[in-house]
Amino acid sequence: MQALALAWRREGSRIGFVPTMGYLHAGHVSLVKKARAAVGSGGKVVLSIYVNPTQFAANEDLSRYPRDFGRDLRMCREAGVDEVFAPRDRDMFPDANQGDHSTWVVEQQVSMGMEGAARPTHFRGVTTVVAKLFNLVLPDVAVFGAKDFQQAAVILRMVRDLHFPIRVIVSRTVRESDGLALSSRNRYLDTAHRAQAVVLNRLICQAREVVRKSRAGIFADKLRRALKPVEERYPLARVDYIDFFNPSTLQPLTRVKPGSRMAVAAFLGDTRLIDNGLL
Ligand code: PAJ
Repeated sequence: MQALALAWRREGSRIGFVPTMGYLHAGHVSLVKKARAAVGSGGKVVLSIYVNPTQFAANEDLSRYPRDFGRDLRMCREAGVDEVFAPRDRDMFPDANQGDHSTWVVEQQVSMGMEGAARPTHFRGVTTVVAKLFNLVLPDVAVFGAKDFQQAAVILRMVRDLHFPIRVIVSRTVRESDGLALSSRNRYLDTAHRAQAVVLNRLICQAREVVRKSRAGIFADKLRRALKPVEERYPLARVDYIDFFNPSTLQPLTRVKPGSRMAVAAFLGDTRLIDNGLL
């Protein structure tokens, strides 16, 4: 991959990069379109597929994470991807179990709350693998989804702090018609849980409505209480956290205003989903 990227660069081609864990959906395809728009028809668009074991904790869904490489390849061809990079575990983390991989990239500010608090080793796995992928794909532009808003913020910080010569684009969340954000993990949901998975988006929409009516802002605790009745309409959902934060610093807010951002994580049965939105 790196030899190919270097050859492309010598020819003067710009490289756009979309990192994924596969099981592609229209959200991923929208990132490919953004990458293509950024590098032009003469540029090269690379999509990586790698289910990164280092961002899953031992109790999480690594072993059952959905995979369909054939379908992914067809979708990539249709979307105009120039190269699919699908490394094996032994290429990315050779002999990791024998301790033969000992360098980590750790962001220590924007990764601390929300997903970082709920999944303590998650972001160090993400930053490390994305840094490695950046060094292999050598992109000019990398595209991430706003669906994983904190992840995008962590990557932006890493790119800035470590001087990666890469422009990061954060692209809007693609949703089903009922508002559920597309996610490879939606595949886990049975009909009943799928129907109630809209709770994440409903909570965000309700919060947005409340916040926009309160011009001076509203205390986070009061807003949380105002969201309880929405939560109670979806008994199959168990909310993990609801956080209100400053979208630039990711600092939690005590007073929520229009322009603040909200993130929510919820379990639908064994499936953990996340979503976020501008209030
Ligand atoms: P994955 O969950 O496969 O997501 C790959 C990219 O697609 C991420 O940037 C994510 O934010 C984006 N994405 C997912 N659902 C989306 C939606 N509904 N609309 C728009 N974009 C969406 O995120 C990861 O993989 C991994 O953590 C990775 C960055 C590849 C590192 O392993």
